[in-house]
Amino acid sequence: MNFDLTEEQVAVRDAARDFANSELLPGVIERDEKQQFPTEQIKKMGELGFMGMMVDPKYNGGGMDTVSYVLAMEEISKIDSSASVCMSVNNSLVCWGLEKYGTEEQKQKYLTKLATGEKIGAFCLSEPEAGSDATSQKTTAEDKGDHYLLNGTKNWITNGNSASVYLVIAQTDPEKGYKGINALIIEKGMEGFVVGKKEDKLGIRGSDTHSLMFTDIKVPKENRIGEDGFGFKFAMSTLNGGRIGIAAQALGIASGAYELALKYSKERKAFGVEISKHQAIQFKLADMATKIEASRLLCLQSALLKDQKKEFGKHSAMAKLYASQTAMEVTVEAVQVHGGYGYVKEYHVERLMRDAKITQIYEGTSEIQKIVISRELLK
Ligand code: CAA
Repeated sequence: MNFDLTEEQVAVRDAARDFANSELLPGVIERDEKQQFPTEQIKKMGELGFMGMMVDPKYNGGGMDTVSYVLAMEEISKIDSSASVCMSVNNSLVCWGLEKYGTEEQKQKYLTKLATGEKIGAFCLSEPEAGSDATSQKTTAEDKGDHYLLNGTKNWITNGNSASVYLVIAQTDPEKGYKGINALIIEKGMEGFVVGKKEDKLGIRGSDTHSLMFTDIKVPKENRIGEDGFGFKFAMSTLNGGRIGIAAQALGIASGAYELALKYSKERKAFGVEISKHQAIQFKLADMATKIEASRLLCLQSALLKDQKKEFGKHSAMAKLYASQTAMEVTVEAVQVHGGYGYVKEYHVERLMRDAKITQIYEGTSEIQKIVISRELLK
């Protein structure tokens, strides 16, 4: 595989890096502390084309490849994972899902606005009693002829309040198992739709994670994505791609923490020399860099396979599994390299360590990734 980046890919990466340093870094500690959604920053990310990177330009997207998306996700996640999770869900779950499986009318109505960031999307699968076990949906979409009647509760929804377009997975016919599940497009403001409480989280505290309540919402049939009963497959297929985004987010968290640790190790002196001269620190840096490089290669490989229209589900699960583990390990070590300074907010690494944990949980836990991978191996 050739991983030489094209001029365009380098330009995207550099633009994302510049944006992250100039627009996301200022205030990132405060937004984390106050749990403030980066509203202005996300708006600018939309204007720069980061919210619908892979969408066809005819729907107002950037028409870029998945490799460019991975590069941008890494750069933005080095600085602010609360912004990057919003970007990831919008790009790879909502925009991609609509572009791949939506009708032309749905694309014109929703995708054209989601791709520019004018509207933000949310992907609503998890429920109080159905996270990993995604076929056990309790939310119901009763078929009423020309519409569905939607009832239920969704939990831990990224962009829960900032979104205005929601892709909701719900059970229409429990007797049909996963084939009785549908994916419906819901808009904020529909009668019977309530945004519930905001979660007070360990990490990615600037992102808004909410529960959502649906009571007798009338959803027109034209808001269903795909054929009747396609909802579960829609969710699985979309998550395969979403995992590339979260893997790249984990990669960014790890490389952000590593870069800070590397810099600090050359500045901080102990026992008369910079701590980078001590083998104990050198070994840590070598381990961190090696794991990051392996994560980067897995991310790029799954992105390339997707761009080449080849099967990539196993590879995106591998990338997410390994990169999220790396994010956790590297951020813990980055705090250790910083010693006492690593434990205080102004040095950033403690935030990156807290942010890393979610990458092992959302869009499928590490255990789910192992199920996805092993099923492919055993086929
Ligand atoms: N890709 C494509 N198709 C898949 C698939 C995948 N990864 N996984 C399953 N399918 C298909 C199967 O092939 C099967 O279809 P056929 O009968 O035609 O072969 C169908 O879906 C049903 O599959 P299973 O019977 O294997 O389903 P299961 O109940 O055993 O579940 C699972 C499989 C892998 C555990 C799945 O439930 C899963 O991935 N769960 C995790 C869900 C998840 O990631 N939740 C995170 C929430 S979203 C989020 O976090 C977003 C956010 O806010 C950031």
